[in-house]
Amino acid sequence: MNETAKIQQSQSTEPTTLAKTIVLVGLMGAGKSCIGRRLAQRLNVSFVDADAEIEQAAGCSIAEIFEKYGEAAFRDGERRVMARLLQGPPTILAAGGGAFIDPETRTLIRDYGVSVWLRADLDTLAARTKGRNHRPLLNAGEPRDILAKLIEERYPVYAEANIVVDTGADNPNVTCARVVEALTHIAGTEIASAPAESAP
Ligand code: S3P
Repeated sequence: MNETAKIQQSQSTEPTTLAKTIVLVGLMGAGKSCIGRRLAQRLNVSFVDADAEIEQAAGCSIAEIFEKYGEAAFRDGERRVMARLLQGPPTILAAGGGAFIDPETRTLIRDYGVSVWLRADLDTLAARTKGRNHRPLLNAGEPRDILAKLIEERYPVYAEANIVVDTGADNPNVTCARVVEALTHIAGTEIASAPAESAP
């Protein structure tokens, strides 16, 4: 079994023990937080949202960090927060869309985690981010054009993730099941019998 991806499956109601943090990566609107929460619930482990942790550490919103200090300062903070989270107890971690693009953070994710790229097409991402204005990168122009450019720039990098799972118009539970299935492959264990599933 691949030790780095080892997931020890627990019995009945015992929490699942993750050997490493499972890091969800992908573009804004891919569903990292939504799928991450479901996955954590299904495996009975904790969920952490990196963006929320950054906001908590900074004491202000991501939009405010960008506005007051600029993107470079945000990336510095993101790098530090990701390093702390990755070196802490294993969790399901939803990374911000740019985290895996940063070479230092990507190395940390590779060393301390198992990365899962939630891959979505432009239509899906545009629809899921529409009407939401808390993401500074998408407020800098026409969101669909920005997402198209980011797909071009970032998809070759996200492709380095350990696992790739396609997500589109499917119900989040379907995507979550795909992630579990993919992790089962990597881990060589039966995650499908996780507590949420095995309960009578
Ligand atoms: C960013 C994605 C955002 C957030 C910040 C920058 C990016 O997170 O970290 O606005 O560079 O793609 P989500 O992907 O969770 O929206």
